[in-house]
Order: sequence, then C-alpha cells, then structure tokens
Amino acid sequence: MQNPRVFVTRELPGNALEVLKARTRMEVWPDPMPPTREQLIEKVRDCDGLLTLVTDRVDRALLEAAPKLRVVSNMGVGYDNIDVAACTQRRIPVGNTPGVLTDATADLAFALLLAAARRLPEARNYVLEGRWKTWHPSLLLGRDVHGATLGIIGMGQIGRAMATRARGFGMKILYSDIQKPDVEVEIGAIRAEQNELLREADFVSLHVPFMPQTRHLIGATELALMKPTSVLINTSRGGVVDQAALAAALRAGRPGAAALDVTDPEPIVASDPLLNLPNALVVPHIGSASVQARAKMASLAVENLLAGLEGKPLVHSVNPQVLA
Ligand code: DGY
Repeated sequence: MQNPRVFVTRELPGNALEVLKARTRMEVWPDPMPPTREQLIEKVRDCDGLLTLVTDRVDRALLEAAPKLRVVSNMGVGYDNIDVAACTQRRIPVGNTPGVLTDATADLAFALLLAAARRLPEARNYVLEGRWKTWHPSLLLGRDVHGATLGIIGMGQIGRAMATRARGFGMKILYSDIQKPDVEVEIGAIRAEQNELLREADFVSLHVPFMPQTRHLIGATELALMKPTSVLINTSRGGVVDQAALAAALRAGRPGAAALDVTDPEPIVASDPLLNLPNALVVPHIGSASVQARAKMASLAVENLLAGLEGKPLVHSVNPQVLA
C-alpha cells in the first residue's frame, strides 16, 4: 500500500518534517507567503492529511474539495482558522498544539508589558534619531511594574503562566474567566468581575480564545473603564479587541498605552491609525516565536497528523469525539 499523501502549508522549523517525509508522500509549500485559497484547494484535492498554520482557512468548501482528507493538524493552540463543526461532521479529527507554547507566549506577553511600561520603543527611537543629548530627571518616565496590579482576562494555561511571571515581579493579580479555575490559592490571583478588573488593573492582559462570544470582548465601553495610566496587552487574537475603538481610546489617552502581538486583520494594514500612535506598540504575531517552542509545535503537529492518518487518537485534538 502506498504511503498517505499529505500537504504542509509552509516549511517548518526543527526536524519534524523529516519524520513526516519518511512516512508519507509529503508536499511542502515552499514560499514564505501562504498558498492562496485557490492554491490550497488545489493542493488538498488528493490529500489524506493536511498540516495548516493560523494563516490557512479550512472551511466547508475546502473540505468538499478534499474527499480523501482524514485529518487536519493545525500548528498552533488557536484554531479559529478551522471550521471544526464542518470537520467533525465529516469525521475528520482536528489537531492543535497546546502546552508547548505556553511559556514562550507568556514570556512575550510579559515582554510587551515591560516594554510598554518603560516605553522601550520610544526610548530606542530617541537614541536612533540622535536625540540623546544628556541625562535628564524627567526623560522618558514610565510606570513601575513591581507592586502594580495585573488583570488577566482568560485564566487558561497561558493566563496562568503570565500570573506566575507577575508574581515574581511582586504584582497584585486579578483575573476574570467565564469558568472559575481554582487559582486563588495556587498562584495568589484574585477573581474579579471583568469590569472591576478593567477599572482596577494597571496592566490588562488578554488570554481568551477567539470565538463568537469573545469577538470585541474589549470595545469602547470596556476601554473607557480603564485608567488613563493603564496598559492593554493582547497576545490572544486581534478580533478580541475592537481595534478602531482602541485607536480612538488611545488617542483620547484612556488607556494610556497598548501593546499588541495580534491585530485584526493580520498583517495590520499600513494605514491603520494604531501605527501612528506613540502609545501603541505592535509586533507581528510572534507570541510563540522562540526556537524551542516552534520546534516543539512543529513536532506535535506532525505527531497529530500521523496519528490521524493511522486512525489513532491525536495527542491533542479539539474534536476527540470523532475518533472515540
Ligand atoms: C497559536 O498557537 O495559536 C499562535 O497564535 C500561533 O498560531
């Protein structure tokens, strides 16, 4: 019997693809830019397995074009690019890669917090623009992180990892979550209603998955509750924040700053008002971008794909009932 045919939508870091190549007839999209929708549909026509990234949309139309498809493996913890209901209906397991990127993403969220608090992008520009003439007592004053209050919205794995880092900095931690994970004793975080958290926190970090219920979770009303000195950090998905409302709020000075790893759309359009605001720091969706985390994500995505091709339970699946 021939090895199954799989399509991988980008070159992956680490050696995960060597493992996949040995056990499948693998085709890898070679460009740094993702395949267009038409190209992706063309590529999956004869495939048994598909390995996707956050940039690749998997919906009903794509599934219809791929009658042999038996597994979709997404390299990412988020899977809002995939119509899971449609996959489940076709009894196609969908894999994702939680856990292995938790710490890397929390590291980046905390890096954004520190960078915004101490105005690092402005300070860097100040030096590069030749404006550093002397030491001045009032130059580029930022905000203390130690002793400040961090509000975490969404206390899943990454939210908890963020809390652990904040504890090391002597921060008070508030959190809100639609479920109630028991973290009060474990990491000293205090549960709060979302509005109370927005009012009290000096830093608000978003760690919710993107779904219809979390679209624009933070809009004009929520932003207006934040302090003029507080900072919004988003490493979840751009759509969780109403970006136009955020630009207007930052212009009005409430909240004081925002640091975003994710935008809506991605990439952010060059004319987006956020890019002209000195109190907005935007980086290009690099939350999990450490050498180690990306290699582990690639390996886990390959493991999920191979398990699905063999009809075995995936290591991590978002619709495990398909193979139950
Ligand atoms: C994730 O894992 O969801 C990251 O955002 C990268 O896709």
